[in-house]
Amino acid sequence: MVQSRAFAKAGTHVGRHRQHRTVEAVFVPVSRLSFRQKQRAPKPFVPRASDGIATYFGESKLADRHSAATEASSAETTHVHGDRDTINATYNIVFVTAEVAPWSKTGGLGDVCGSLPPALAARGHRVMVVAPRYAEYDVTPVDQGPKKSIACHGTEIGFYLHQSKGVDWVFVDHPSYPRPGGIYADQYGVYGDNQYRYTLLCLAALEAPLQLEVNGSVYGDDCVFIANDWHAAMVPVYLAAKYRPGGVYQDARAILAIHNLRHQGVFAPKTFVEYGLPAGWNGAVEWQYPPHQRQGAYEEEGRAVNTLKGGISTADRIVTVSPGYAWEIQTPEGGWGMESMLTSRAYALNGVLNGIDTQEWNPSTDKHIVKNYSISNFSRGKAENKAALQKELSLPERPEVPLIGFIGRLDYQKGADLVLGAVPWLLEQDVQLVCLGTGDVSLESGMRWMENTYPDRARGWVGFNVPMSHKITAAADLLLMPSRFEPCGLNQLYAMAYGTAPVAHATGGLRDTVLPFNPWEGTGTGWTFTPCTVEAFISILGNALETFREHSDSFRALQQRGMQIDFTWDKAASEYETIFGWAKMDAPYCK
Ligand code: GLC
Repeated sequence: MVQSRAFAKAGTHVGRHRQHRTVEAVFVPVSRLSFRQKQRAPKPFVPRASDGIATYFGESKLADRHSAATEASSAETTHVHGDRDTINATYNIVFVTAEVAPWSKTGGLGDVCGSLPPALAARGHRVMVVAPRYAEYDVTPVDQGPKKSIACHGTEIGFYLHQSKGVDWVFVDHPSYPRPGGIYADQYGVYGDNQYRYTLLCLAALEAPLQLEVNGSVYGDDCVFIANDWHAAMVPVYLAAKYRPGGVYQDARAILAIHNLRHQGVFAPKTFVEYGLPAGWNGAVEWQYPPHQRQGAYEEEGRAVNTLKGGISTADRIVTVSPGYAWEIQTPEGGWGMESMLTSRAYALNGVLNGIDTQEWNPSTDKHIVKNYSISNFSRGKAENKAALQKELSLPERPEVPLIGFIGRLDYQKGADLVLGAVPWLLEQDVQLVCLGTGDVSLESGMRWMENTYPDRARGWVGFNVPMSHKITAAADLLLMPSRFEPCGLNQLYAMAYGTAPVAHATGGLRDTVLPFNPWEGTGTGWTFTPCTVEAFISILGNALETFREHSDSFRALQQRGMQIDFTWDKAASEYETIFGWAKMDAPYCK
């Protein structure tokens, strides 16, 4: 039997497709169907215990029948592809991203692109990450060799290669990347040439595997690209429009990874030429806003080019960062105008929950906190960190008072306004609230107002400070995450790993990861609320505070359950592998 390592390890998040495969394997000769046909094949009837048939077969026999069929299917599928074993295979993987931590980061995208590639490399894949070189990164002496320069998109670019954690980090050098302001914007707004900068990144990333020698050989054209967010969304478009017609990248596949659908890279229609696409490819990116949402100049009549749409309409598969978000983006409420397109590609869309970097976020080794702790001594460890934070922030040093944290951008998505909306109720009680973040000017002023009004109970730290975010996570009893939408969210994962209970809006990745506390069954790792209103938020906060104050044993057990969850990247990496296998066993979606 050839057992599939990827399928054997694949978790529930890609379960929808797994079930298809398992079920069809019982009745359909999979070897004769392409993967897409397999997904279209009618679902056969599978007896379950509740159908009453189980009494005849006996439940265990049914399970045996299933697993035998699954094994047969795995063997058959592997056999179909003969010399190219798409299931146990290792791949040449090329991440294309605008951000990669620790070198460049404005949010979770940078973290994911800094952590997932090493996890895949550790599983035996050859992994390259291509990102802009926004500054002269201090990675020497491990920089491998001198810069390699090539012609690309009518200009000259350079590649700098740095190798660490088993990954080839390739930084694209071009005068348009370094800026005195932020990565995408400065105090005057977003940069006017972002379309050009990220078009160039996509084309550079398509050249790197062909032209850059790494340890004596190029990656070659049999790659799986992971194009992250709109900045990299032109990768599958160029594969289909420019490279495959030229005979290159016939075996390559491109997966679009959506971290946040709200940002789509939308530009004026006349900028279509900037992409340098062959004639006839307008349709891949053209975008028409409905009259009530018109954007851009009056004479454009709501027409635009939409970079992310290019990726959605051409990628071989689409992945988003949680199963909940994969569902939400197919609805009018969460689709940001893309819901119909995404629904039409639902069969190729999966949610894979992000992991966390356990070297960076681990209470037993964290260098930013005063007392390291683990599940065996977390009560004492958290108490010491709480006392230290209260002292540092000049709050009354009281162990019994619930310490509540909020860490995040002060903007509409993160729901910082809901925190401020809850403040008059919350801070009339005996609690302490510590907020950390920057963002909208009015919300920043709100934080200052809060601190001035409740000097003994609240601190609003306007700014971003990595050590402080670790200290709050370790010291707090509750962490607030009232995000209006949250594709995955990382802070709730960090919080649970540190024994801090999240209080979160039940949306996207938050709903997938924060299991609501059930006092009767003794389950759950936090509290979730919906709808996303101040009233619902206050109501659930009341429950959380009551549990903290009146039922400390239950609260401790909840903290323990959170700390036990496995959020390591290896799990996500194995699910990505499964998806690579699916992408490879199908013909390219767009030839
Ligand atoms: C974006 C999303 C966030 C997600 C992160 C990493 O920042 O808003 O929810 O965790 O990307 O995928």
